[in-house]
Amino acid sequence: MIETPRLILRNWRPSDLEPWVAMNADPDVMRFFPAVQTREESGSMMARNQDHIDREGFGLWAVERRDDGAFLGFTGLMTLKAPNPLHPGVEAGWRLARHAWGHGYASEAAAAALKDGFERLGLASIVAFTATANLPSQAVMSRIGMSRRQDLDFDHPALPKGHALERHVVWEARA
Ligand SMILES: CC(C)(COP(=O)(O)OP(=O)(O)OC[C@H]1O[C@@H](n2cnc3c(N)ncnc32)[C@H](O)[C@@H]1OP(=O)(O)O)[C@@H](O)C(=O)NCCC(=O)NCCS
Repeated sequence: MIETPRLILRNWRPSDLEPWVAMNADPDVMRFFPAVQTREESGSMMARNQDHIDREGFGLWAVERRDDGAFLGFTGLMTLKAPNPLHPGVEAGWRLARHAWGHGYASEAAAAALKDGFERLGLASIVAFTATANLPSQAVMSRIGMSRRQDLDFDHPALPKGHALERHVVWEARA
C-alpha cells in the first residue's frame, strides 16, 4: 500500500469490480487501446493485477480517493514480459475513470509509485510507454520527471502490423 496526500494505492477489493468494469467499457478511457473491455476481460485483469501484487510485492494498485473512498482506477508498476522489447524491466502504468481526470491524481499516484520503485524496491530504471497519439499519458510521464527515450520506441508486438496504435513511444526514469 502507498499513501499520498489525496490517494491510497491499495490491494484490489471485490467492491472495485463494478466501477472497474464500467470504466473499461468507456470508449473515452479506452481510446488509445484496440477495444473497450468486456466484463470478463476486466474481471480477469483485476485478478491478474492482484496476483502480481501478491507475487512481487508491487503491481498495478487500485487507486482510492482518501476523502470519500471512491475507486478511481489503477496506477503502479509492473514487470515486463517477453515479447515486449523492453523486457526484462519494470514499467509504470495508469488508467483512471473519466470523472477522475483533470485533478492531478494520475501524476500524484505515479510519482509515489516511482518513489516506491526506487526507494523500497531498489530499481535502477523504470520505463513507461504508450501509443504515440496518447498525449495525456505522455503528459503524466513528463510531469513525474521521466525523460523521453526515442531510441527505445517500438511497434507493439500485440498489435497487428499497420494498426493505428502500433507505434509506441518510451519514457524512462532512473534512480
Ligand atoms: C492518462 C490519464 C490517467 C491522464 O489523466 P489526467 O487527468 O490528464 O492526468 P493527471 O491526473 O496527472 O491530471 C493532470 C491535469 O489535472 C490538472 N489539475 C487540476 N488540479 C490539480 C492538482 N491539484 N494537482 C495537479 N494537477 C491538477 C492539471 O492542470 C492537468 O490538467 P491539463 O491536462 O488540462 O493540463 C487519463 O487520461 C486516462 O486514464 N486515460 C485513459 C487510460 C490511458 O490512456 N492510460 C495510459 C495508457 S499508457
